[in-house]
Amino acid sequence: MAKIEVSNIYKIFGPRPQRWLEAARSGMSREDLLARSGHTLGLRDISLSIEEGSIYVIMGLSGSGKSTLIRHFNRLIEPTAGQIRVDDVDVMSLGTRELERFRQQKMSMVFQRFGLFPHRCVLDNVAYGLKVQGVARPERERRAQHWLEQVGLEGYEKQYPHQLSGGMQQRVGLARALATDAEILLMDEAFSALDPLIRREMQDQLLQLQSQLNKTIVFITHDLDEALRLGNRIAILKGGELVQEGTPEDILLAPADDYVQAFLQDVNRGKVLNAVHACNAPRFSPTTRSRPAHVVERMAQQGLRFAPVLDGKRLCGVLTREAAERALQAGARDVSQYVEAMASVPASAGLDEVLGRMLHSTAPLAVTDENDEFVGVLSRRKVVELIRPTLPAEAGVSGDAVEAAGETGGSAPEDERDRPAGAQRSAA
Ligand SMILES: Nc1ncnc2c1ncn2[C@@H]1O[C@H](COP(=O)(O)OP(=O)(O)OP(=O)(O)O)[C@@H](O)[C@H]1O
Ligand SMILES: [Mg+2]
Repeated sequence: MAKIEVSNIYKIFGPRPQRWLEAARSGMSREDLLARSGHTLGLRDISLSIEEGSIYVIMGLSGSGKSTLIRHFNRLIEPTAGQIRVDDVDVMSLGTRELERFRQQKMSMVFQRFGLFPHRCVLDNVAYGLKVQGVARPERERRAQHWLEQVGLEGYEKQYPHQLSGGMQQRVGLARALATDAEILLMDEAFSALDPLIRREMQDQLLQLQSQLNKTIVFITHDLDEALRLGNRIAILKGGELVQEGTPEDILLAPADDYVQAFLQDVNRGKVLNAVHACNAPRFSPTTRSRPAHVVERMAQQGLRFAPVLDGKRLCGVLTREAAERALQAGARDVSQYVEAMASVPASAGLDEVLGRMLHSTAPLAVTDENDEFVGVLSRRKVVELIRPTLPAEAGVSGDAVEAAGETGGSAPEDERDRPAGAQRSAA
């Protein structure tokens, strides 16, 4: 279910936004609008849907409109046009009192610069949102204490913000946001001020908390590694427009334009992409009961050097072409005695890890899911191409070379193109 639904939002900053709405709608550039009217186009025609219980990341360069967008969710900013629905309630329809309650109870925000009260101790900082909600002191202190423990700050209750490191202050900010029990957390560059090590710790902590809390988290960042690590989905803004929206894999595998591509440049693809992205559905998968003559014929027809043997969705092993031919010559009733064990990798294994396995052994690898069911056969070519999409065509590192060194009977149509049926492969 969509927790937050944003439809066709426009935001124009300036004294007479309505007057310039039509110009923005009909595509006047941000620069032209500013030059002609002195108005700034904050957002242009943004629509997106944020699923309950997900972490939704908003990315983009400085000035692309990230903070502007997120502030529409709790109506800290009002749109020039468009609609914002939270839990199917039109946020724009809320009266003053309702809006106040909505902000206190539905959403809490974590800021980049911590936003702590310097003259209040840690415990009071964390309890602040509860105080505003009218929760009595003993109860709010109990709850603040609980969240301080959750973020690893037990014992620091009576300290003041300036006595803590940046990472600790950020933890106080997170505890404060969590303490109000709001269903939605808005995190605007919450981890950006932290050094890389602490930042990673905070990401881990957020993921771990999220696995228990199942909140809806909107997370703004400049950092693609952070986005890929945290986000269930990612939206990329550029000059107030949405240039791409999708899962981390969608974005990594098919960047919409050069702007997105530029973000992706330094990303560690081997960590983000998994075995499942590099596997092919088999073209032919016999069972242990299959007749040798049938198997040999199909494998010859398709030019396969091996085929995964399945029992329903379970992987029984692998049958090589040679083994199938031996079964045929021996007059066996079925291929069951000729099936060999097939190594497998989990679908969720990172390509870095898969690459390690590939280099270790040239045997075919199956990909299996969390229920141990067969997903497909790993394509060595795809692993290499995905890790280095613009691979230099040097001998020894090309996808072909890797494929030839170990890949046996690949399975998908694109492999077929490379290897016509029945073609002899020149293994190294
Ligand atoms: N109150 C305002 N009045 C006028 N212009 C504004 C206002 N708030 C934001 N803008 C403009 O809207 C654009 C988007 O700003 P916004 O703060 O949303 O960017 P951002 O993506 O969050 O950037 P950063 O990464 O630097 O935080 C900028 O050009 C900014 O100047
Ligand atoms: Mg911002």
